[in-house]
Amino acid sequence: SHDALRLRDGRLVDISTCPLGRMPGQVLLFRDVTASCAMQALLSRHQRLVTMGEMVASLAHQIRTPIASSLLYLSHLRSARMDEAARGRCLEKIRSCLAHLEGMVGDMLQFARGGQMGDEIIAVSALVNDLELLLRPQLGAHDCEFVIRDDSGGKCVYGSRDALLSVMQNLVVNALQAIAEARGKEADGPGRLELRAATRDGKTGRETVCLVLRDNGPGIPPEIQAHVFEPFYTTKSQGTGLGLAVVKAIVAAHNGAVWLDSKPGGGTTIGIELPVHHEA
Ligand SMILES: Nc1ncnc2c1ncn2[C@@H]1O[C@H](COP(=O)(O)OP(=O)(O)OP(=O)(O)O)[C@@H](O)[C@H]1O
Ligand SMILES: [Mg+2]
Repeated sequence: SHDALRLRDGRLVDISTCPLGRMPGQVLLFRDVTASCAMQALLSRHQRLVTMGEMVASLAHQIRTPIASSLLYLSHLRSARMDEAARGRCLEKIRSCLAHLEGMVGDMLQFARGGQMGDEIIAVSALVNDLELLLRPQLGAHDCEFVIRDDSGGKCVYGSRDALLSVMQNLVVNALQAIAEARGKEADGPGRLELRAATRDGKTGRETVCLVLRDNGPGIPPEIQAHVFEPFYTTKSQGTGLGLAVVKAIVAAHNGAVWLDSKPGGGTTIGIELPVHHEA
């Protein structure tokens, strides 16, 4: 059997006992494991920092939008002759952008410290609802049909609600851009987006929740598919190519996986799979 003992001077000693067979008594083995434990901690910290490097790139991407919006609202405040009510709404928008930023930075800090990403228990249905509220205005502007099928059956996932929302937002924005691009070339019917939430038994027997987004855009050629999750890979003149890299990093931090299924001309289906949270 194994036991660990912390000495008063801070050293960590591993104690193992071993009976002497037929003889009475037992062997006690003391091993100073201070160094190897420190090494292990250092290693896992190093791994976190590597992922953190990828996260920093994604963070820059994520904070840009709320900062740009805040600046825009600020300039409204300065220039326009606004009444008190409009001024109040503008200030509220700025406040909510800043609160969003603060939350995001908080998530990243927690991740850097080695914690999980967020510690919320999130009902998948609530996540889907929030997403719809967030996206409706955008979708309206794009004249795109948006269908939601929520078969998540009351299941929950564990992590950061804001981070998961930004994952789904990234995927929807990509789909909308793809649909808009296809329409620029040839008008082949209205845009259509379908979001499905479902549960399924994961490969290792644990139950997962899938969030699957399907679009009827132009699809992705195989040679491009191989690169879409790489940071800074983009086919758009205005893209930073961080969208899907962020998606992958956040989903990985939630112990989940991302998959992609697309054929040129056949639209794109992209899904994230997250472990179901079971109450302890
Ligand atoms: N739904 C989709 N349909 C067609 N192509 C897609 C779709 N989603 C992603 N892609 C392709 O994958 C590439 C990478 O996507 P990603 O979101 O990482 O970056 P981006 O959208 O180009 O830029 P950013 O998201 O940083 O503004 C895109 O440039 C595009 O070529
Ligand atoms: Mg994108």
